Amino acid sequence: MSKLVISGGRKIDGTILAHGAKNSALPLLAATLLCKGESVLHNCPNLSDVDAAIKILNYLGCYCKREGNTVTVNSSVVTKNEIPDDLMREMRSSIVFLGAIIGRTGGAIVSSPGGCELGPRPIDLHISALKKMGVTIEEEHGFLKCSAIDGIIGNDITLQFPSVGATENIILAAVLAKGETVIHNAAKEPEIVDLAEFLNKCGANIFGAGNDTVRIVGVDKIGPAEHYVIPDRIEVATYLAAAAVTGSKVNVKKVNPEHMRATLSIFNECGCVLSVGDEEITIERNKRLLSVPMIKTMVYPGFPTDAGPPILTMLALADSSTLFIENIFQNRFKYIDELKRLGAKIRTYSNVALVESCKKFMGAKTAATDLRGGAALVVAALAAEGITEIDNVYHIDRGYENIERCFSNLGADIKRV
Ligand code: UD1
Repeated sequence: MSKLVISGGRKIDGTILAHGAKNSALPLLAATLLCKGESVLHNCPNLSDVDAAIKILNYLGCYCKREGNTVTVNSSVVTKNEIPDDLMREMRSSIVFLGAIIGRTGGAIVSSPGGCELGPRPIDLHISALKKMGVTIEEEHGFLKCSAIDGIIGNDITLQFPSVGATENIILAAVLAKGETVIHNAAKEPEIVDLAEFLNKCGANIFGAGNDTVRIVGVDKIGPAEHYVIPDRIEVATYLAAAAVTGSKVNVKKVNPEHMRATLSIFNECGCVLSVGDEEITIERNKRLLSVPMIKTMVYPGFPTDAGPPILTMLALADSSTLFIENIFQNRFKYIDELKRLGAKIRTYSNVALVESCKKFMGAKTAATDLRGGAALVVAALAAEGITEIDNVYHIDRGYENIERCFSNLGADIKRV
């Protein structure tokens, strides 16, 4: 198993291009199932989670081809409607295929996703919405058997929580449904808007994506389309945090700053100097990082839970304490014990972390506990004096394309061994 070895405590410098967003690419790949024919996704990041989604499409009978960051999916023929347990386990987010498989084939068999590194991963909102849309769902021996013999039927759905995955699944199920579906309290994340834009190019009728209420008027069929995946706002936040902790100047291109308002305001508050263009952000940090009184993770457009780990890591090096409250996932703080090995002074109480001021980090042996926690360790290691080893890099590979190459291009001493 590979690990990252980072010799930190030095500045980084230069320009880096953001990749496409994993969290957009996955539902977009699921969406290609609905449009018989060959769809083309550009700016599709080369990540293990994306590979897992491609494996699912292949298993279902689609033909997929990757050329650089362009993935072509030919979904003219779909021969199966189940996702085997091993593929479901490879990527918890594969539940986003559920709505699309039922929409395309009238049924689906998938294993229940169970828990993940971030705690229990319930799908009750997905299930109850699909049931309201006429899908019969039986749970048997850890499998969900779904069928919509008379087709999916549009309905009015109010989500108790604006779940990103549930909103995506409902949209995917509603595109070819009979009649109109309205989602109240829908998730408003940019990835929802990207999905709706792609599906509308394919011929779907989705209105209001990015707002609380999304309306989908079912159509008989949709065709393939070509689409450019939006930039990964969490990857960008990770690069900015890395620049901030190392006291560096870094320019990140192919960014959508509009998607990052809440995150960028934290960098401003911490005393970083940001220069924000239409599609690029330059960050520079010359003075000691300043703490912020409190950060609370929220649904979009609030501060995103996925940007929490790299930014909490940055705040651990600030001049005073920050209170960090995680409101979205129960088990998000596992990586904090690893950060403490580098010298971070952080106390956690349930979903609250008190991040106390620490002058510097020292290199240590660590292991990634999950995707974003792993990225946080890379950020910490870049700032730490001496050598840091990060084990379990497979977590990081789920969401960062060749992280060692990205940071060595900025002059960091980082290698995979
Ligand atoms: C997506 C992102 C993930 C991000 C999260 C929140 C993808 C592939 N993943 O995950 O990176 O951290 O949004 O922005 O896009 N919940 C329920 N019942 C449900 C569904 C969700 O209780 O049926 C709860 C979850 O346990 C969690 C919260 O709602 O506490 C948010 O989950 P959700 O918005 O669904 O996140 P994901 O779509 O899984």
